[in-house]
Amino acid sequence: MKKVVISVENLSKTYGEGESAVTAIKEATFEIYAGETVALLGPSGSGKTTLITMIGCITEPTTGKLTLDGELMYDKQWKINDTGRIRREKIGFIFQAHNLIPFLNVLENVTLVPQMNGVKSDEANQTAKELLEYLGVSDKLTKMPSQLSGGQSQRIAIARSLANKPKVILADEPTAALDGERALSVMQLLRKLAHEQDVAIIVVTHDERMLPLFDRILRVEDGVVKEAI
Ligand SMILES: Nc1ncnc2c1ncn2[C@@H]1O[C@H](COP(=O)(O)OP(=O)(O)O)[C@@H](O)[C@H]1O
Ligand SMILES: [Mg+2]
Repeated sequence: MKKVVISVENLSKTYGEGESAVTAIKEATFEIYAGETVALLGPSGSGKTTLITMIGCITEPTTGKLTLDGELMYDKQWKINDTGRIRREKIGFIFQAHNLIPFLNVLENVTLVPQMNGVKSDEANQTAKELLEYLGVSDKLTKMPSQLSGGQSQRIAIARSLANKPKVILADEPTAALDGERALSVMQLLRKLAHEQDVAIIVVTHDERMLPLFDRILRVEDGVVKEAI
């Protein structure tokens, strides 16, 4: 039996109030298992970013229930005192712009969050080196982000998202800035990671060519989330 890592029950988000209120996600219900890669598809403005930032405990839902890795996060209100801790411990984020910190080198970028979580620097460095090796960029340890290509930066961003050994990886168009071949290799890497390390990965993508690489596809249309067959 596969373990449920993300459980979303009737989760909704309304921005604003009264006449100007916009319901960006309407009663979404689904489960995602350890080791699964799930694509989130949908037109611009359909609610994809709202959904993954709620799952990532960045955007506060309006109603419903969210459970991550067996821990209740939200049930009509936050059930945890420190959403920042949850983000650092359970979740890895990858964004379209890789968001590497420009004045830290590659190794420092990857070890930052584990060190914030109290991991000793020797251990954080060791894990970071292993990850960078795994991602094929171990020769970049002391390079600054400005010295990297787009594909290399995105690999470093993936290493960083994995450094805290998350159960969940949330990626918002992680390959949008890459050419077709590099985009495909980044996606293949994410798939391999999910399967080998039992991580649940949700990727927002517009790229139809990527779809065969996913175990499942969820479609969002006007705030309604549906399983695509
Ligand atoms: N911070 C916000 N305040 C008000 N409305 C927002 C906010 N963020 C998103 N929205 C609205 O919610 C809807 C869904 O947006 P979003 O989740 O960004 O969609 P997508 O990522 O699919 O493009 C849109 O109508 C958008 O205008
Ligand atoms: Mg978006």
